Amino acid sequence: MIPADGLKLIFCFGLNIFCWSGACVSFFFFFFCTAKMNTLGLVTLRVCAGLMGRRTLHVLPRLQRSSSGMTIPQIDEEVARLLQLKAQLDGDDGKQTFVLKTPKGTRDYNPKQMAIREKVFNTIFNCFKRHGAETIDTPVFELKETLTGKYGEDSKLIYDLKDQGGELLSLRYDLTVPFARYLAMNKITNIKRYHIAKVYRRDNPAMTRGRYREFYQCDFDIAGQYDPMIPDAECLKIVHEILSELELGDFRIKVNDRRILDGMFAVCGVPDEKFRTVCSTVDKLDKLPWEEVKNEMVKEKGLPEEVADQIGGYVSLQGGMDLVERLLEDPKLSKSSDAVAGLKDIKQLFVYLQLFRITDKVAFDLSLARGLDYYTGVIYEAILTQAGVPQTQDPQNGPGVEEASVSVGSIAGGGRYDGLVGMFDPKGRKVPCVGVSIGIERIFSIMEQKAETSAEKVRTTETQVMVASAQKNLLEERLKLTAELWDAGVKAEVMYKKNPKLLSQLQHCEDTGIPLVAILGEQELKDGVVKLRNVTTREELNIPRDSLIEEIKKRTADC
Ligand SMILES: *[C@@H]1O[C@H](CO)[C@@H](O)[C@H](O)[C@H]1NC(C)=O
Repeated sequence: MIPADGLKLIFCFGLNIFCWSGACVSFFFFFFCTAKMNTLGLVTLRVCAGLMGRRTLHVLPRLQRSSSGMTIPQIDEEVARLLQLKAQLDGDDGKQTFVLKTPKGTRDYNPKQMAIREKVFNTIFNCFKRHGAETIDTPVFELKETLTGKYGEDSKLIYDLKDQGGELLSLRYDLTVPFARYLAMNKITNIKRYHIAKVYRRDNPAMTRGRYREFYQCDFDIAGQYDPMIPDAECLKIVHEILSELELGDFRIKVNDRRILDGMFAVCGVPDEKFRTVCSTVDKLDKLPWEEVKNEMVKEKGLPEEVADQIGGYVSLQGGMDLVERLLEDPKLSKSSDAVAGLKDIKQLFVYLQLFRITDKVAFDLSLARGLDYYTGVIYEAILTQAGVPQTQDPQNGPGVEEASVSVGSIAGGGRYDGLVGMFDPKGRKVPCVGVSIGIERIFSIMEQKAETSAEKVRTTETQVMVASAQKNLLEERLKLTAELWDAGVKAEVMYKKNPKLLSQLQHCEDTGIPLVAILGEQELKDGVVKLRNVTTREELNIPRDSLIEEIKKRTADC
């Protein structure tokens, strides 16, 4: 007697043989018809493919479920093979068409854009390194609970991932919260680190043009218990250095303190539980006129009009050390110990900023609020003030109506967050932190605009020299010299052709900005020299072979 499983197995193999013969017939007709364009062949092919596909697809999985364990891998393999065959056959007439786009709110970067990015990155990296920072990396996604409750009203923009079974995850919204999680998890109490990486926000890019769902952030933070305002002052110095070095135009750095804001809210009569939400309304002052902000405070946030008016009196103030002194004497504000503590720190900060010689760009500004929930002390934001700052253009959506058209635009921001790490620590141990985030995406788009309007071509390669020849049959000599250059650390290229024309080799240099050509010829080889050509001036000079590397390095030291 044959057991039921055995019968199924026999049936299965039978079916396989049937399918395979079907496939063979199909292939025969496939080649036949593609060669002869025979319509009858095409029809037969479709019938075969259809029959085969339907049978395998429906019968095999059912068999698989009921057959014994040993045969399942075999059947799986057969199914996979048949499906692949079917896909090949379908490829002929049922070709899948792709929607060629990147997901909403994301984009590709072409070599020219990447070259500009790299330049900006290097300027910023160098600055961070000059200040003694280390770098770290963290995962792109975090446990959802790690991110929850840290961003205030922006929390709705957190990108939740579909449950993959096990952990509820969200994409990182910024680099600060993952940094705090990292410190708490590894019990680190002192670190100065920078981190440049992509973050994700479920923004609606169609509504807020020029904003992306995936973009770079660039953070520098100092964690540790130190004397007040020394690390804070260094963060502002770093912003000043980076913005100056990148030559983005004139800028200003606004400074305030969360405790001054909270104290001000308290003395103006804002109930405690409304501090955060009123704070995010004040934060809109850089984009909206006071009348609209006041309207939101009264109509949406439910503040009495006279309370809003008192806030209005304070948030219109800005100045330097003099304003700090004046507010320390303010009869109402000085009643709040929070406000006084904040004002004293701002005063100390200005002393250090004077030593760093950057006070000309810094202003104490009571309207600066910054929306994020985690700030506890000093906060700051840099804005470009030059009228001629080009507006950001969004290549996907046409001319952009970015924030740039409303205010000139924030380009960096940050502040002190002394409580964030403690929120993650099981014992609530605090690690005071202060940091700054450089608005690198805005910097990129400004630099891209600049490059577009400038006559200077953006190089996407760094090749220093092209190894070329004017005569035929010198491929081997070219390859030999190229390898010598590579091994000596020279960036060199050679054309992938046995006998390229000199003109096309020179043209490649013109197109990509390669500054030098090393030309080999029979005579040069005999004389033990290489003809070195300056691409711009077309000047040529014979250089002895053994000083060639030195000469190339000398000439390209600053390209
Ligand atoms: C090419 O010649 C010009 C003019 O003398 C010079 O400025 C440039 O540096 C030269 N380039 C190289 C790579 O030698």
